[in-house]
Amino acid sequence: MLSFAIDEQKCTKCGKCVADCPAQIIAMTAGYPAIDPENEAACYKCQHCLAICPTAAVTILGLVPENSRTLVAAVPPPEQLETLIKGRRSVRRYLEENVDPRLIQQLLDVAWYAPTGVNSRQVQFTVVDDRAKMTQLREEIMAGLGRLVRETTLPPEYERFTTILSVWEDKGVDIIFRNAPHLLIASAPRQVVTPLADCLIALSYFDLYAQSNGIGTVWGGLAKLAIDELVPDCRATLGIPEDHLLGYVMMFGNPAIHYQRTVQHGPAIIHRM
Ligand SMILES: Cc1cc2nc3c(=O)[nH]c(=O)nc-3n(C[C@H](O)[C@H](O)[C@H](O)COP(=O)(O)O)c2cc1C
Repeated sequence: MLSFAIDEQKCTKCGKCVADCPAQIIAMTAGYPAIDPENEAACYKCQHCLAICPTAAVTILGLVPENSRTLVAAVPPPEQLETLIKGRRSVRRYLEENVDPRLIQQLLDVAWYAPTGVNSRQVQFTVVDDRAKMTQLREEIMAGLGRLVRETTLPPEYERFTTILSVWEDKGVDIIFRNAPHLLIASAPRQVVTPLADCLIALSYFDLYAQSNGIGTVWGGLAKLAIDELVPDCRATLGIPEDHLLGYVMMFGNPAIHYQRTVQHGPAIIHRM
């Protein structure tokens, strides 16, 4: 049941909800927008009808417009967003402390708003929210890599993990997780339409929003290889469902360093057809 309802006192019959519905299931019926019960199954649950209505007349899925945040004059100006995008850096040095759990929750709640193919909204965030658990995971990964190296079963294409392991064993330097206190993994059921894209977009949103909150982040390419390819038992330790594609991994925490200015990348590579 979509519980699509129109407040006829507020509805101006402008037709914006009808025109914007991606599933095209809203139609003017007896003068007002309505969804034929037979078409309800086609709804994306994207809430565009609720979002677009100029007079807050649309209710759907039991959601009332009054509980939405207004967008009028509330979106950050482009210059601020540009500074955030150009100013976010990969952080590889962290304070040895947990991030406030309430902030972690807030970061995940916001990243959850990232778009997904056909609005499937199936991305799971697996978060290591405590440094002690992170230490455990790090040790499990390093021990697994150690076994591969000593048993000479490390696939040749992953040879660089031999050096990574020796740096860890000899100097205690963690190149895989950058000694971050926390880890975030985005995974999604393999059968949704766009699992990889959904995960990468969600992590990109998390990345930017975390950095705007003063939290350091770094994409974990090595961590992803280690967890997903080399020591796959860790997937079970982490609780990643077997039918999930592991999209990507991101480390985060309170940064031990602060960058003062943006970098200066050259012009974008643009090909115009
Ligand atoms: C998909 C991806 C994987 C990455 N994997 C790692 C990694 O395993 N370890 C690391 O230190 N940095 C990793 N990075 C960070 C890049 O090295 C970094 O983004 C790049 O050097 C540019 O620096 P910036 O992010 O500060 O602009 C990764 C970045 C991306 C996008």
